[in-house]
Amino acid sequence: MTDGDRADADDFAVAADDPVSAAVEVVARSAPEIRAGLAGRRRKADEQNPSGETQLAADVWADELLERRLAAVDGIHQFASEEREGVVDCGGEGASGGYAVTVDPLDGSSNLKPNNTMGTILGVYDAALPAKGAQLVAAAYVLYGPITTMVVARDGEVTEYVLESEGDELAERRAVREDVTLPDDPVVYGFGGRVPNWTDRFADYAGEIADELKLRYGGAMIGDVNQVLTYGGVFAYPELESRPEGKLRLQFEGYPIGYVVETAGGASSDGSGSLLHVEPDDLHQRTPVYVGNEALVDRLEARF
Ligand code: AHG
Ligand code: MN
Ligand code: MN
Repeated sequence: MTDGDRADADDFAVAADDPVSAAVEVVARSAPEIRAGLAGRRRKADEQNPSGETQLAADVWADELLERRLAAVDGIHQFASEEREGVVDCGGEGASGGYAVTVDPLDGSSNLKPNNTMGTILGVYDAALPAKGAQLVAAAYVLYGPITTMVVARDGEVTEYVLESEGDELAERRAVREDVTLPDDPVVYGFGGRVPNWTDRFADYAGEIADELKLRYGGAMIGDVNQVLTYGGVFAYPELESRPEGKLRLQFEGYPIGYVVETAGGASSDGSGSLLHVEPDDLHQRTPVYVGNEALVDRLEARF
């Protein structure tokens, strides 16, 4: 089936009674197709994304696929992606209000070459972009691991689903864990960036944590955060000497993941307070990200 045909198949009627459910359903329905489309798209694209990072063909393709489908949902009036400069207005003439959705179409795309975990991140905001974390009404991520799972945070609860597929079509989205909460006793940690580039205060914190927990760092935030959600612990892509704002994007990664972890009873921080309270001055601004068990995030903030 060519991309052109695919465009016809794109207007799959998403049976959902509200735009938020529809957006989650679109991502769930697209996940098997994204997973199936990765193998042939490992090559570098000619472009860079707004963060100045080289894009893979898979990044661009997944972004276009998600934009086409999410923009078609009634009630979604804005779409933005880590992979494109501006906000796409999709509410139609004179549309007002409506929801805004953001995607990181492929999180951890540098893991595609070594065939490691990757993810897709969705944020749904009840406000125009760039929106604040506190204006999120739902956040979700797909994890392309040994199996494809989806974690959805909405209405104060986190639910984990297994996405069963037949070919590149979703066959079933099956809830396997309801009311997901971080275990009380943390087990794992994962810290990004190069150790010599860590600030002294983060390095001191990291040294303490490394004495207590098991290292689990896979290079895709979604895979690393899902370990923290499953076993308890802390994930960080910290401030760096060379880049005090860190690497991860506030709107597309920090807010949605902060929302998921806080909804699961954990904490998020940019070093001084909840990620959800960081002001969004620019759509592609970066932020240090610290998420996990509240006590571990509190210890980080006590040092900063
Ligand atoms: P993306 O592929 O969407 O740019 O995200 C990659 C991010 C994040 O997933 C991960 O935690 C981090 O980059 C890994 O960075 P390093 O390669 O510097 O470890
Ligand atoms: Mn990412
Ligand atoms: Mn990405």
